[in-house]
Amino acid sequence: MTKSTLLLVEDDEDIRAQMKWALAADYDVVLAGDRAAAEAALTTRRPSATLLDLGLPPRPNDPEEGLATLAALLTLDPLAKVIIVSGQGDKQNALHAVGEGAYDFLCKPVDMDELKRVLQRCVYVAELEREYRAAQQSHQAPIFEGMLGNSPPMQAVFTFIRKVAPTNAPVLILGESGTGKEMVAQGLHRQGPQRNGPFIAINCNAIPENLLESELFGHEKGAFTGAHAQRKGHIESAAGGTLFLDEIGELPASVQVKLLRFLQEKKFQRVGGRQEIHSDARVIAATNADLQAAVAAGTFREDLYFRLAVVVVKVPPLRERGDDTALVAKELLRRYGVEHGKTRLTFAADAFRALSLHDWSGNVRELQNRVQRAVIMADGKRVTASDLELADVLTAAPPQTLKEAREGVERELVTDALRRHQGSITAAALELGISRPTLYELMEKLGSARD
Ligand SMILES: Nc1ncnc2c1ncn2[C@@H]1O[C@H](COP(=O)(O)OP(=O)(O)OP(=O)(O)O)[C@@H](O)[C@H]1O
Ligand SMILES: [Mg+2]
Repeated sequence: MTKSTLLLVEDDEDIRAQMKWALAADYDVVLAGDRAAAEAALTTRRPSATLLDLGLPPRPNDPEEGLATLAALLTLDPLAKVIIVSGQGDKQNALHAVGEGAYDFLCKPVDMDELKRVLQRCVYVAELEREYRAAQQSHQAPIFEGMLGNSPPMQAVFTFIRKVAPTNAPVLILGESGTGKEMVAQGLHRQGPQRNGPFIAINCNAIPENLLESELFGHEKGAFTGAHAQRKGHIESAAGGTLFLDEIGELPASVQVKLLRFLQEKKFQRVGGRQEIHSDARVIAATNADLQAAVAAGTFREDLYFRLAVVVVKVPPLRERGDDTALVAKELLRRYGVEHGKTRLTFAADAFRALSLHDWSGNVRELQNRVQRAVIMADGKRVTASDLELADVLTAAPPQTLKEAREGVERELVTDALRRHQGSITAAALELGISRPTLYELMEKLGSARD
């Protein structure tokens, strides 16, 4: 096993030699005699722990230089673990240093057994924090193109968008209503080569059948009664950009043929026109219907289906996104809180439980409605399950054991505190009012509970 690196900031030759001798078996000891050397060593050697003498040159008899070194090290790495080694009668300064962010302190002459114990624990915390930070960084951010999502199925959607956006291939987006299909389409547009072009969205179900063709392809003057002037269609206007066809399953048969030709040749004619018009608009379609069943039933052309479905992505329903429901709910609570002037609202524990038990048939849109209504209705500081009009899912659910309830709250608080402090166990423990060992025990317990 490789040894952990320990930085020793000390100017007294005797103490340096003594410490190095005592610690070299367990640690890779790096020495620094003043502030500049300490800063350099922290940056280049990334020690798991630092032992810092408060009396450093040029003023070995006063703690100022030691405290300034502490501040400099914590500025370079806010998660640095610095253990203060102070002279006899200097306990006040050592305590002050702990208040400034030092991990712990020891008084001279140092008891080697005690030092080893403190170091062992300190290095353990430092390495745990590093692992946590690395794990956080290897994971993509929980927000992508405005979409929140930490869960594996949403992270997979983000990866899909990154991969597919740069190509110009048509994409078919599947998903229940309110899952975010239009957001995915916008994400594909903004991440793709046509990002500076227009994004035009059309809901095929919202436009009467006789108008849809001219909406999409445009018309010439006099093409039909009421066509007083020539008009460009959306396919033409979306040139250089993206055309998003929502509810594609509702496209009437006559329009299906024309769209197929456009997808094959990038050309079309306006209604009542002869001229071939070219458009390089990228086509993204979406549906919450079963298109393959429509193909089997003969209401949707198979050749068009294959043209549209070159790449298919399914946006998962909210109920399959685990803790994302709470993540999105909290963000919505913040936004609607600002909108309605109630910025101090938080969810009560029963609200989190209801959020996770409800089946969310209306997905993110339903969540938006419930949270917005709850923000308007909430009286106190807490939004409850009944403010969300979800009290009945709690009565229907099997009673929660005290252990489950406690773990739910603990998990919520611990993840939030760690996120707020970028993974610093020391800072999170301080905020939570528990000791560091208790916090990492909790992290282990909750981590295993999550598997
Ligand atoms: N992951 C997400 N994070 C935050 N907000 C989201 C997310 N997904 C969707 N939304 C929001 O939810 C609402 C519904 O999203 P969108 O319109 O993209 O869904 P849709 O699948 O197209 O819905 P429909 O089937 O009803 O057309 C929008 O206001 C959108 O901003
Ligand atoms: Mg939509």
